[in-house]
Amino acid sequence: MASFFEQLVTLARADVPAIQIVSHEWERVRGLVAGLSRELSVPSVVWSLSRGVEKLDRDAQVTPGEPGQTDPQEVIKQHCESKDPQILLLEDAHHFYLNSDRRHEIARWLREACRVRGVPRKLLVLSGPVPGLPPELTKEIPSLDLPLPGQDDLLEVCREVAASRSIPCDPVEPLLEAARGLTVMEARIAYSRAAQELGKLDSAAIRLVAQEKSRVIKQSGVLEYFEPTTNMADVGGLENLKAWLSRRGRGFGHGAREYGLEPSRGIVLLGIQGCGKSLIAKSVAAAWQFPLLRFDLGRVFGGIVGQSEANMRLALQVAEALAPCVLWIDEIEKGLSGMGSSDQLDAGVSARVGGTLLTWMQEKTAPVFVVATANRIEALPPELLRKGRFDEIFFVDLPTSQARKEILSIHLRRKKRDPEKFDLDRLAREANGFSGAELEEAVKEGLFDAFSDGQEITSDHISQALKATCPLSRTMRNQIVQLREWAKARARLATAESSEPLPNDNVDSVPVLRQEQRNPFVPRPDPIGTPNRDRGQS
Ligand SMILES: Nc1ncnc2c1ncn2[C@@H]1O[C@H](COP(=O)(O)OP(=O)(O)OP(=O)(O)O)[C@@H](O)[C@H]1O
Ligand SMILES: [Mg+2]
Repeated sequence: MASFFEQLVTLARADVPAIQIVSHEWERVRGLVAGLSRELSVPSVVWSLSRGVEKLDRDAQVTPGEPGQTDPQEVIKQHCESKDPQILLLEDAHHFYLNSDRRHEIARWLREACRVRGVPRKLLVLSGPVPGLPPELTKEIPSLDLPLPGQDDLLEVCREVAASRSIPCDPVEPLLEAARGLTVMEARIAYSRAAQELGKLDSAAIRLVAQEKSRVIKQSGVLEYFEPTTNMADVGGLENLKAWLSRRGRGFGHGAREYGLEPSRGIVLLGIQGCGKSLIAKSVAAAWQFPLLRFDLGRVFGGIVGQSEANMRLALQVAEALAPCVLWIDEIEKGLSGMGSSDQLDAGVSARVGGTLLTWMQEKTAPVFVVATANRIEALPPELLRKGRFDEIFFVDLPTSQARKEILSIHLRRKKRDPEKFDLDRLAREANGFSGAELEEAVKEGLFDAFSDGQEITSDHISQALKATCPLSRTMRNQIVQLREWAKARARLATAESSEPLPNDNVDSVPVLRQEQRNPFVPRPDPIGTPNRDRGQS
C-alpha cells in the first residue's frame, strides 16, 4: 500500500486544489508539507492564527513572513488571486469554517480556492485535529487521516531524545513498540520521562514508556489501556467459547496468513450479568499476549461540533496503531442505541458515530480483535449483528452445575483455599441459578462469616451465604427466559452443555420489579419454536 506521503504526492500531482489532513500532529504535517514542497519544487507557506503567514522551508523550518496576516479569509483570498505556484498550509482553521460566525464566508472562499484553475501546483492544505468539512466542501476537498507514527518515526523520536540529553540509546524493537499508539509529542514525553529517570534509553525503559502510554491513552477519556491480570484459567465453564478463541488465536500466529487464514474480526458476547463476559475479554488478551484496550462508547459523545466523530476516529486510530490488539467494547448497546435516533434530536451524531464504527468493523485490515459485550438485545441495532462485522455471536448463559463447581474452585483458590476441602457437589446443587459473580460473592461472604466466628471457612459458610442471596435468576427471571429464547436461534452457546432450566422455587414470592411488568395487551410474536396458533387453525 502506498505510504501516506505517496498518497499526498499523487493527489498533488493530479492537481487537486485542496486537501484536508486530520491529525493532532502539526509537526508531522509540517514535515509532510515541506516534503511535498521539495517533491513538487514549489514554495510553501504556513498560516496560523497566532503567527499569521510564515515561510516554510524544505526542512520544515519557518521564517516570519508578512506580520499581521491573521485573518484566514484574507490569506485564502490572496492564495486564490495569486498567479504563482504555492502550497498554503492552514493550521487549525477548522474553528473558522466549522464553528465561527464567519463560517459561511470562509467556506465560500475555500470553495473559491477549490475552483482556481490555470495555475498548476497551487495547493491548499487544511490541517487540524477535528475532522469534518462544511457540506459545500465535502465533494471538493479529499480528507485524509494521518495514521499515528510508525516504528521509523518512533525510532527518530527515541534517538532525538537521547541525543538531546547526550545519554546512551539502544532503541530495541520492544522499546519502540511500547510507544506505539502515541503521537510524536506524546512519545517524546514518554521517552524523555524514562530518560530522566534512567539516564539511558534501552530495554530497561520499556516498562516506563508502557506506563506513560497507559496514562496518555486513559487521558483521551475514551480508551483505557489494560495490563491483563487474568487469563483463561480464571474462567470457569464457557468451554465452547474458550475452544473457539483458542482456535482463532492461532489465526494471528506465525504462518497463518500464508496458510490462507484471515485474522478474526471479533465476537459479540451477549448474556446475563455477571456470567463472565468482561472476564473473557480480559483473559483473551492475556492468552494471545495482545495489548487490551477498553473502549467506552458512551464517552465518545462530546459537546463541541465534530468532537464525537473526532473521538471515535482517534480511538480507532489508536487501536490500529496498537494492532495486533484486543479492543473491548463493553455494553456496546449503550453507545449504539441512539443510532436510529432522528436527525433533529442530536443532529444525527449518534447515527454517524455508530456508522463510523460499523464501517470500520467491516473494512478494517489491521488485526484488531473486537470483543463487544451486551446485556440488552432489544437495544442493539440490527446492523451490528449482520454478517461480515463479527465472526460469531455467543450467548453467555448462567453457569451449569459443572461450571459452578469450577467457578467456586477458582475463587476459593484465589483466596488461597484448597477446593478439595469443600463439598463442591453440594454447593453447586444449592447454587442452581447463580451467576459467576454471585458465586464469587458467596465465597467472599463465607470468608467474612467464618472470620467473624473465629473459624476457618467451610462449605457450611458458603452454603449459608448462598441461602442469604436472592440471585438475579429469580429477580429477573422473565428477562432471562426472553433472552434465552432470543439467543436460541441467533447465537452460539458459550457453554458446552445446554442451559439448565431456571429453578422454580418461590417464584411467586419474588416481588416483580417495575421494569419487569408487562402490558398483556401489547401484541407480541409467538416465542421462537412454538407453533403459531392463528396460522395453525387456518
Ligand atoms: N465464568 C466465570 N468464571 C470465573 N469467574 C467468574 C465467571 N463469571 C463471572 N465471574 C466472576 O464475576 C466477576 C464479574 O463478571 P464479569 O464482569 O465478567 O461479568 P459480565 O458478564 O461482564 O457482567 P455484566 O453484564 O454485568 O458486565 C468476574 O470478575 C469474576 O470474578
Ligand atoms: Mg461486563
